[in-house]
Amino acid sequence: MEKALKYIEENKQRFLDELFGLIRIPSVSADPHHKEDMHRATEYLKKNFLASGAGKAEVIATAGHPVVYAEKIIDPALPTVLVYGHYDVQPADPLELWDSPPFEPEIRDGKIYARGADDDKGQMFMHVKAFEAMTKTGTLPANIKFMIEGEEEVGSPSLKQFCMDHKNKLSADVILISDTTMIAPDVPSITVGLRGLAFMEVEITGPNRDLHSGLYGGAVMNPANALAKMIAALTDSDHRITIPGFYDDVLEISEEERKEMAQAPFDLNAFKKSIGIDKEAGEKGYSTIERTGIRPSLDVNGIWGGYTGKGAKTVLPAKAHAKISMRLVPDQKSEKIAGLFAEYFPTLAPEGVKVKVEYLHGGEGYVSPITSVEYKAAAKAIEQSFGKKPVPVRSGGSIPIVAVFEEVLGVKSILMGFGLDEDAIHSPNESYPLFNFYKGIETIPWFYHFYSQMKHA
Ligand code: BES
Ligand code: MN
Ligand code: MN
Repeated sequence: MEKALKYIEENKQRFLDELFGLIRIPSVSADPHHKEDMHRATEYLKKNFLASGAGKAEVIATAGHPVVYAEKIIDPALPTVLVYGHYDVQPADPLELWDSPPFEPEIRDGKIYARGADDDKGQMFMHVKAFEAMTKTGTLPANIKFMIEGEEEVGSPSLKQFCMDHKNKLSADVILISDTTMIAPDVPSITVGLRGLAFMEVEITGPNRDLHSGLYGGAVMNPANALAKMIAALTDSDHRITIPGFYDDVLEISEEERKEMAQAPFDLNAFKKSIGIDKEAGEKGYSTIERTGIRPSLDVNGIWGGYTGKGAKTVLPAKAHAKISMRLVPDQKSEKIAGLFAEYFPTLAPEGVKVKVEYLHGGEGYVSPITSVEYKAAAKAIEQSFGKKPVPVRSGGSIPIVAVFEEVLGVKSILMGFGLDEDAIHSPNESYPLFNFYKGIETIPWFYHFYSQMKHA
């Protein structure tokens, strides 16, 4: 282990420079204009894997954006770890809110500022460099495979097929992922739950053209007014979702487990302060951590229609739209929930408008046991490098591929994330502390160390 840690110490600056090279490629999966950048990012990673000691590295086409696969098989009799990450990033806009250009990484106050600095280029690249440190010092104690995808931020639509097509290639004993957060650098944690997701888009249509709001106002159902009422009816005054059957499959957590969850350090005042609100809000009867960790939610992600430019324009829009996401918990199924929404939402419409509902994408939630060898190895690795035992936490976020891995490959994932809530992933001025980047690179070899030790014991 000393050899690998020394290698990391000696190559710190180059590791960062290489990450910057990757960040400079604007691999935004949602925007077709960046298709070429997706290819550039995969080629960059492939070259880096080969230079880092991979026996094989390749770019594999999918129905959507390509996947980078790399491996180093040292002995088929040893356990195999599959590392998953994503090279795609969220769009950077609104650009005017960034203090430095999103794809020109900059270090300020010990943090890397850039789109993808944390999610997930910074976190994923820690594994590539930890891998390099282990291969170059001859200390890799297990087989490693990497699968780095380019569609995570758009719901991984091609990835289930990819897993089915490459089942043998992806076979592994455990999947290791850094694409989540920890409570704080001095309160390390491991994510043991993710929420699922059903993402819907709705369109309300009224008259056949935008109308003068004086000549017609009051005599025609305005689609924007209708949409606002319909959305309002989706939740009640206790913040419960009103869609019939929505809660049917929600796995209720035992009192004992709730008590355990409440042990995780959480500062409500700091939470409110960090996002500039003076009162939290959510389902009656649950704490803030429970509201994101074990309860489902429904939110408007975008809403538009009519005139949204500067100044006033007296118009009654012909159409109004909204994007609505529902975060799901075990054992809710995304397809079923999308179906319930699609059935119920049109029934909320007032007379005089037509409703169209589209299901854009979805994914299932995930829970990981804390009794497995894999979890224990990750916990020991974190304890070793942070000097503290990690706390298991259920995250409110989603990584749809994790449930697919379990379903198609039959392999469980360990979510050993090093991000922080304040990294502002998906927002302007995304950042990632250098401390976390380097601490992650140091922690990962410890995982392999303890994992191979425990597997042999
Ligand atoms: N890395 C995040 C998910 C995440 C972040 C989980 C922090 C837990 C803690 C991932 O890249 C992401 O943004 N996922 C999307 C999924 C969606 C696009 C299908 C999400 O959660 O919105
Ligand atoms: Mn991510
Ligand atoms: Mn993301």
